[in-house]
Amino acid sequence: MADRMFTLAHLSDPHLAPLPEPSWGELIGKRITGYVNWQKKRRFIHDPATLAAIVADMKAQAPDHIAVTGDLANIGLAAEFPRGREWLDTLGSPDKVTFVPGNHDIYVREAAVFTARQWGAYMTDDQGAGGFPFVRRRNNIALIGLSTGVPTAPFLATGWLGSKQLAELAATLNELNKENLFRVILLHHPPETEASQHKRLLDAHVLKRVIAAHGADLVLHGHDHLNMINWLDGPKGTRVPAVGVSSASALPGSDKDPATYNIFRIDGTRGGWQCELMSRGVTSSGEIAQLRTLALRD
Ligand SMILES: [Fe+2]
Ligand SMILES: [Fe+2]
Repeated sequence: MADRMFTLAHLSDPHLAPLPEPSWGELIGKRITGYVNWQKKRRFIHDPATLAAIVADMKAQAPDHIAVTGDLANIGLAAEFPRGREWLDTLGSPDKVTFVPGNHDIYVREAAVFTARQWGAYMTDDQGAGGFPFVRRRNNIALIGLSTGVPTAPFLATGWLGSKQLAELAATLNELNKENLFRVILLHHPPETEASQHKRLLDAHVLKRVIAAHGADLVLHGHDHLNMINWLDGPKGTRVPAVGVSSASALPGSDKDPATYNIFRIDGTRGGWQCELMSRGVTSSGEIAQLRTLALRD
């Protein structure tokens, strides 16, 4: 088993639509600005048919595992959480699908409870324990799930890992390195971005220091709704690719990238890892096509 090629699919930010009708009691605080933003803009971007087409195309590739990096929900309405669970179940069982939450999943304080209760099975370690970071081992791959989702004030979409989670991440990366596993970090916010300050991961500089000190083989994220690759510093002059993917439900024509998913083909052993990226997504004509393939090496 040790050197069988592993295929990992990555999609993000489905922002499941349509938005359920909020109750009057739910339209308070930050949800009001989020609701207005949805009605004015987001509902014209996030398209259920596009998401279904992306998921069907991805499933046709028969990946060994699927990673989803957050923003299933939109404004943290109670009805968004059971619907999110149904959608995760359509992707696959919790042992085949790994989820980490985004800022829209922990939009308001009480959403953290719904997120854990409804989607918890997709965010546990191999023993079924919750909490972040969690680690899942599949063949010679280790998936490390982080949470950057913290409730924030209106108009903010920032993320935060915190010193406790980052310290545990450092220890985890070290341990997995000794096990010679290909280490994939999953988180919602990008470690490196051009986005404005009010949308960023506020302790990204600490995350990058942890990766530079302890190493990782691949970082997958969403949040910016753009297809992007940034190379982070690893230990001893190595580099670690951070690959972001657009929203899996985005129609073409907005200022962000249309819906895309990535497939990573990971092969080899430590010192000789091979990781190939294939992107498939919606083109300007609305078809799903292969966008690019790329060998990721440091
Ligand atoms: Fe998003
Ligand atoms: Fe986000």
